[in-house]
Amino acid sequence: MLILAFESSCDETSVSVVKDGRIILSNIIQSQVNVHNITGGIVPEVAAREHLKCIEQLTKDALSEAKTNLDNIDYIAATAGPGLPGALMIGFSYARSIAYAKNKPFIPVDHIEGHILANWLEKNDPILPAVALVVSGGHTELIFVMKGSDFRRIGGTRDDAAGEAFDKVSRMLDAGYPGGPEISRLADRATEKNLILPRAWLRGTNDFSFSGLKTAVLNLLKKEQNISKEEVAWAFQESVVDVLVSKTSKLATELNAKSVLIAGGVAANKRLREKAFNEIKVPVFIPSPILCTDNAAMIAAAAFNHIDESIPAHSIVEIFSTTNRGKLLIDKKRN
Ligand code: KG4
Ligand code: ZN
Repeated sequence: MLILAFESSCDETSVSVVKDGRIILSNIIQSQVNVHNITGGIVPEVAAREHLKCIEQLTKDALSEAKTNLDNIDYIAATAGPGLPGALMIGFSYARSIAYAKNKPFIPVDHIEGHILANWLEKNDPILPAVALVVSGGHTELIFVMKGSDFRRIGGTRDDAAGEAFDKVSRMLDAGYPGGPEISRLADRATEKNLILPRAWLRGTNDFSFSGLKTAVLNLLKKEQNISKEEVAWAFQESVVDVLVSKTSKLATELNAKSVLIAGGVAANKRLREKAFNEIKVPVFIPSPILCTDNAAMIAAAAFNHIDESIPAHSIVEIFSTTNRGKLLIDKKRN
């Protein structure tokens, strides 16, 4: 059973063909990083235009790499949200149009659910129930995963997402965009490791806060103009990773979780991976870095769990009123 999936929620255009919800036949990802590097961050209108420029070619490439064609595809899936509206609209509308034209059932997918389900694209299946830490540019969430499509939001950031903090601190250090990989590279080169930056524990909650840490870095850079960027990056990364791993580990113990899943772009961070594997007592599952950052294979993996709820092509005009399915997780999070 083949799913053709689309992801365009932010600054990666991705098209993938996945077999039986598990086997990646192709996962083409085109990053817009060079375009957004010029402005030091994403301009939403520019992101949408970049998606539009390449989505048709990426679809051809994904089908050809998977050695298949549209006629062999069983379901079409696309990210419905959350994300940048203009960017989402490109992948979603393009996918929906193909579904309509080729008379294929369509599955709208929640982006965060996609990140979590990326863990099912790896060799070993996660053990459930699990605590999932989703850390990306837009989200930092702790979610209790009962089944592959049954989630309960436990906590999350009260201000900046972890990835957003990486991006903003990278900008303060003039280190480029996206900030995560740049901060990680700088931190690796740190020779002095004495600086300690604050950690917002928000004790008694399962929430996070990174805006105070960001301000602490800003104030430090104003005060100490000669401080090494490498040491600041290292101390910042230690602070973020320490809080993420400690709070996730504590929650997993409290909820008697059988494993911890880490997903989203920040899960590509070497130090986060290392500390999570070393310090969390239950088995830890983290997708390979390429499946942590935005990609369409994860959208296909999540769509696989919602095949029963796919929307027939003939009722495609109703999609906008029925995409609430795509928002299921988002609504649950608000409870
Ligand atoms: O999941 P993702 O690709 O897109 C969103 O859904 O937001 O995550 C992008 C975020 C960016 O903020 C980026 O700086 C961060 O993930 N990121 C990293 C690393 N690679 C990407 N953060 C820390 N370390 C990394 N190696
Ligand atoms: Zn994402």
